[in-house]
Amino acid sequence: MAPLLSVKNMTHYFGGLRAVKDFNLAIDAGQINGLIGPNGAGKTTIFNLITGIYTPTEGTIELEGNSIKGLEPHEIAARGLGRTFQNLALWRHMNVLDHIRMAHYSQLSYSLFDAFFGSPACRAQEQAVRENSYKLMELFDIAQFAMQNIGNLPYGAQRRVEMARAMATNPKILFLDEPTAGMTPDELVRMIQIIRQVHRDFGVAIFVIEHRMKFVMELCQSIQTLVFGEVIAQGPPEEIQNNPDVIEAYLGKEDLH
Ligand SMILES: Nc1ncnc2c1ncn2[C@@H]1O[C@H](COP(=O)(O)OP(=O)(O)OP(=O)(O)O)[C@@H](O)[C@H]1O
Ligand SMILES: [Mg+2]
Repeated sequence: MAPLLSVKNMTHYFGGLRAVKDFNLAIDAGQINGLIGPNGAGKTTIFNLITGIYTPTEGTIELEGNSIKGLEPHEIAARGLGRTFQNLALWRHMNVLDHIRMAHYSQLSYSLFDAFFGSPACRAQEQAVRENSYKLMELFDIAQFAMQNIGNLPYGAQRRVEMARAMATNPKILFLDEPTAGMTPDELVRMIQIIRQVHRDFGVAIFVIEHRMKFVMELCQSIQTLVFGEVIAQGPPEEIQNNPDVIEAYLGKEDLH
């Protein structure tokens, strides 16, 4: 059977700079894969290429066996690929509940006429959206902030709002760009628990960029190490952690154990 997400021989140039070289990836339904590498290695660029922000210079990208290369980001999202951003993409003056509710609207089926006249179909769907929003906020530990504006939330909670919003679209695969960046050690441990539960409850596949080794070691089945746009090692966490090339790439920057 074809993998859920398959990327083959993906290469990308920004002008004369080759940011990604011959990248390959296969993620099966429900699998958790990690992408690590030093700053500027090209990790976020790989996310942006697969999610449609950029179109790769070369290569193929398939979701459930269908090409998604060249599609708009919202079209790719509608096919089941959800994501978060390295720098939070939230509206500071909008509250938490509205963020999560709005994310549902790409999936609703009532018409503008229904919405205007408040038809029963419309009201039933609104109710379902509300219930699901609260369920997601509970899961991501942000229900206590439901009515608060994003700008007033602690940073860790803002990251969880972004994740809950991505899950509101009910994705088959979730891309997380440094989900624990800026978090305290306690928040990191809590985030690992939350992602484990989301993975279990939704059976969603996850592709995650992360610098915190504790996170990738505990959650990922397979890890790729990217250096200067090229994968220099891939395999299960224990193997990657002890790979001399990986240690060399991180030397002096990070403690892999
Ligand atoms: N839109 C762009 N135009 C030109 N160059 C870019 C663009 N986006 C990224 N780059 C360059 O591509 C390279 C990879 O950047 P990228 O942001 O993908 O790295 P990263 O691995 O995510 O780094 P970090 O760990 O700091 O987030 C860098 O040299 C960066 O300057
Ligand atoms: Mg990045």
